[in-house]
Amino acid sequence: MNLQELSTHIAAEFQKHYGRAPRWIVAAPGRVNVIGEHTDYNDGFVLPMAIERYAIMAADISATPGKISIYDAAFKENATIDISAPVTKGSPKWSNYIRGVLCGFQNRGVTIPALDVAFMSTVPLGGGLSSSAALEVCTATLMEAATGEAIDPIEKALLAQKAEHDFAGVPCGIMDQFISALGREGHLLLLDCRTRKTELVPMSDPSVALLVINTNVKHELSGGEYAERRAQCEEAAKNLGVKSLRDVTPDQLEKGKGKLSEVIYRRARHVIGEIERTTHAAEGIRASSWPSVGNLMYASHASLRDDYEVSCQELDDVVEIAEDIGYKGGIYGCRMTGGGFGGCCVALVKTDCVDAITKKIAAEYKTKTGIDAAIFASRPAAGATIIKG
Ligand code: GLA
Repeated sequence: MNLQELSTHIAAEFQKHYGRAPRWIVAAPGRVNVIGEHTDYNDGFVLPMAIERYAIMAADISATPGKISIYDAAFKENATIDISAPVTKGSPKWSNYIRGVLCGFQNRGVTIPALDVAFMSTVPLGGGLSSSAALEVCTATLMEAATGEAIDPIEKALLAQKAEHDFAGVPCGIMDQFISALGREGHLLLLDCRTRKTELVPMSDPSVALLVINTNVKHELSGGEYAERRAQCEEAAKNLGVKSLRDVTPDQLEKGKGKLSEVIYRRARHVIGEIERTTHAAEGIRASSWPSVGNLMYASHASLRDDYEVSCQELDDVVEIAEDIGYKGGIYGCRMTGGGFGGCCVALVKTDCVDAITKKIAAEYKTKTGIDAAIFASRPAAGATIIKG
């Protein structure tokens, strides 16, 4: 479903459930990160794009004060959130992303209106495509629509990130919420996570496409591995006497190697190399140097697999299949994307070859793993929007 169809669909779901038309419809996209993995919480660079998969909400003022009712149209589940007091964590689990954002608005002194909401998402859940950031940013956009007060998109992204930290318990970086809030159609977003300066990198060459390959192996960031990696990076920076790994060049890392354990050294080597690869990839994309961008993607994957150890067998299988198909078969590069431990790969491919590559990867992945992959191409989409209201 494209955004227009999705909007019509959620309006109909709202109508069916609440017996009237919605007053507002808002949406926020998921994302795929082209390169720059596990660099955001090290003050580094990331290069994500918003994808044509969205969390979407239709809403109207409710007749019942002090409450927000949310109807999950996909899973036919209801949640009620008490907004008459400071919003707290609660059930069902997915409502915490919404609760966290509502709490963020309360902390800004906003009086949350009582609402009836219908919600659904086409961002695969637990697929490493930021389904949770899409839900958070969508909620924040609904608050903007319903209160009539827009907030600065950077503050909105930070508010959504805080919701993830405090209500979902994942100490994530800033990438996912930023791209969901600030994405621009036809562009990747080069984000300097230290200064929060963003630069749009056009990605409109029709001869290349980005393919998202979902291994359908669930990705769970609250498992502790993510927080552990983050702590290891902080340890590396501390031992090297800097504020963050952004301040360390590859040469300096080699000189300081003796101050780090073997594992911490490898974690730092990934981050420092990945920050360099990301700015080089942005230059490559601007120059349409697709083979060199592809090589940087393969190098990123190898580093995430060997040094950062956040890949898994199925992600490695996809990258191996892509390498076998290779440049001749229309693939420039491929890597895992997002936090890791399952989820998705992203591949840079020749547009002409999308169908053939999709079939080949699906067949070979099934043979290797017994699992059906879900594969789709996406153009870079726009960030969060108010569709109606
Ligand atoms: C998750 C986090 C992001 C980022 C990536 C890894 O998606 O939410 O902030 O750290 O992992 O690059």
